[in-house]
Amino acid sequence: MEKTLAMIKPNAMGHAEEIEKIILKEGFTIIQRRRIQLSKEQAMEFYSEHRDKPFFSNLINFMTSGPVQAMVLGKEHAIRAWRRVLGPTRVAAAIKHHPDSVRAKFGASDTENAAHGSDSAASAEREVRFFFPDVNLEPLLTGVEARDYMDDYVSPTLVKGLTQLCQTKPADPITWLADWLLVNNPYKPVPGDEK
Ligand code: RTP
Ligand code: MG
Repeated sequence: MEKTLAMIKPNAMGHAEEIEKIILKEGFTIIQRRRIQLSKEQAMEFYSEHRDKPFFSNLINFMTSGPVQAMVLGKEHAIRAWRRVLGPTRVAAAIKHHPDSVRAKFGASDTENAAHGSDSAASAEREVRFFFPDVNLEPLLTGVEARDYMDDYVSPTLVKGLTQLCQTKPADPITWLADWLLVNNPYKPVPGDEK
């Protein structure tokens, strides 16, 4: 499973839920999600490859005009798959040639084009690190590594939940367990930072 960085830009934050629905419908997993107000310095660093372009200062003003939502998306060939769902950079081209794309639906102008997607494996790695320094970019864990990961991060919570499940014997054990895990998730995002 490949990972890519998606970002909902300030002009489309009112449609964040709808965009997330599209992402899930297209078969991506949302591995991480974070809402953040970028500072000028952060926006300039994120878009440093464009610093000599005529639209750079417009772009920085726009990207700092309100919060953005960064997400790590996972899927086979996620980088190009998300660029396809996004549509062309230019909103007029998106509307004309890819009317179902995110930019056609939510883009307002060539700068305010609703969302971002990494354009290569190298930029995906850099951009995921930029927002999520702790995300593991290694390919799938196997063997001992997978067992250690489960032992350290998943099994202790799961065993507790399954034990309580057996004591409670609810009519719908799967939904019960799902709810229990949400309430007892030791990695629950900090309120105010995560959705
Ligand atoms: P992104 O990096 O945001 O996913 O978009 P992209 O690869 O499709 O486009 P890129 O060439 O990397 O441009 C970065 C962002 O700069 C803004 N832009 N404004 N002529 C203009 O006013 C203009 N051109 C580009 C857009 O927000 C674009 O997504
Ligand atoms: Mg780009």
